[in-house]
Amino acid sequence: MGLGYKLTFVSLASVLAAVGAYFYQKKKKEILIIPWRWEEIGKLTRLNLYPLKSGHRIELSQAECTEFGLRQTKDDEEVFQLRDRCLVVYSESDNEFRTARTYPKMVLIDVSVHDDKYLAVDAPTMRTLYVKIPNSQDNKNTLVRLHKGEEIFAIDCGDEAASWFSRYILEKDNGLRLGFHDASRGRDITKTHKNILDYYINLSNYSTGLYSDLTAILLVNQASIRDLNKRINKSTVSVDNFRPNVIVDGPCLEPYAEDQWEWIKIGDVVLRNVKECTRCIMTTIDPENASRSSDREPLKTLETYRLSNGPSSLPTMGINCETRKSGLIKVGDPVYIPKSD
Ligand SMILES: *[C@@H]1O[C@H](CO)[C@@H](O)[C@H](O)[C@H]1NC(C)=O
Ligand SMILES: *[C@@H]1O[C@H](CO)[C@@H](O)[C@H](O)[C@H]1NC(C)=O
Ligand SMILES: *[C@@H]1O[C@H](CO)[C@@H](O)[C@H](O)[C@H]1NC(C)=O
Ligand SMILES: *[C@@H]1O[C@H](CO)[C@@H](O)[C@H](O)[C@H]1NC(C)=O
Repeated sequence: MGLGYKLTFVSLASVLAAVGAYFYQKKKKEILIIPWRWEEIGKLTRLNLYPLKSGHRIELSQAECTEFGLRQTKDDEEVFQLRDRCLVVYSESDNEFRTARTYPKMVLIDVSVHDDKYLAVDAPTMRTLYVKIPNSQDNKNTLVRLHKGEEIFAIDCGDEAASWFSRYILEKDNGLRLGFHDASRGRDITKTHKNILDYYINLSNYSTGLYSDLTAILLVNQASIRDLNKRINKSTVSVDNFRPNVIVDGPCLEPYAEDQWEWIKIGDVVLRNVKECTRCIMTTIDPENASRSSDREPLKTLETYRLSNGPSSLPTMGINCETRKSGLIKVGDPVYIPKSD
């Protein structure tokens, strides 16, 4: 009897210790100490928000930087504020997402806030589409499949939007639909992106944004684009081919310095670099006229000196960041990295 108690006590204690260790490990992973001493390395020179995945950008002078990425401020849009990559085009038949990789003309689609009830969508040769801002009570809720089969929550934007997008992109009456994310929930990339999470150890569910590829914010250093253009040597590529949200520049910035930045502070906002940004054929599509570059630039040149050692082995440009401290950022704000002693 006494021995039994003792054994029970011993095993209970070891179970408690194991549970404690487990939670400590988990906690240790989650406790992040944001640096407190910073040095200025440049300025925030541009802020771009892409309401539609693969669509055209909205250039902002200021934005809310949130867990889900950039969002328009009430100063810009009083009644409704668009978020970065809050809209996605998907196939009616299998709910798979569609992008400008397959349909380059998607880069010319503009989305804006029309009034308190409607978004306005424009594209060359098309009449303006007014999309009633969808909500999860009145519209059909669904799941859209993105990279690696990851399923992401979407609110369907209705039949009129579906036929407008099918007409513009496929030149057919149907086939595509438009999905909207209301930022009511996060994503789970743990099953679909296991090999990527194993390599980029600081990337997590928290990093992901709405319909962004894997993180809420893409930051590009303009000095890296200047260096790339020197190497391409004949044509010039715009930073917009890389579709960044945040562009940083400064007279003392070295090209590709951003690869080494673990933390970035802009105004009061703190971003954390969780992944290099691997680049695909999308970067060869001109963001202003949707034409594909005939010589595969800038990808061709990037492949000669910027190949990733990670799971994709694609070339890299820019850094994928998560928002660790939210707030308002403005073009012209100083950009800091942790001060090295
Ligand atoms: C990621 O999110 C999903 C769903 O919210 C959750 O079940 C899973 O445990 C999360 N994983 C991590 C590592 O946080
Ligand atoms: C991941 O984050 C930790 C803690 O901030 C940092 O020390 C480490 O360098 C990061 N690892 C990578 C690969 O970025
Ligand atoms: C760049 O252009 C110059 C002048 O046209 C040429 O001499 C040089 O070889 C070119 N460099 C590369 C890497 O193509
Ligand atoms: C698209 O724009 C690029 C860059 O300005 C230019 O080089 C190209 O010729 C244009 N293509 C068409 C079809 O207008």
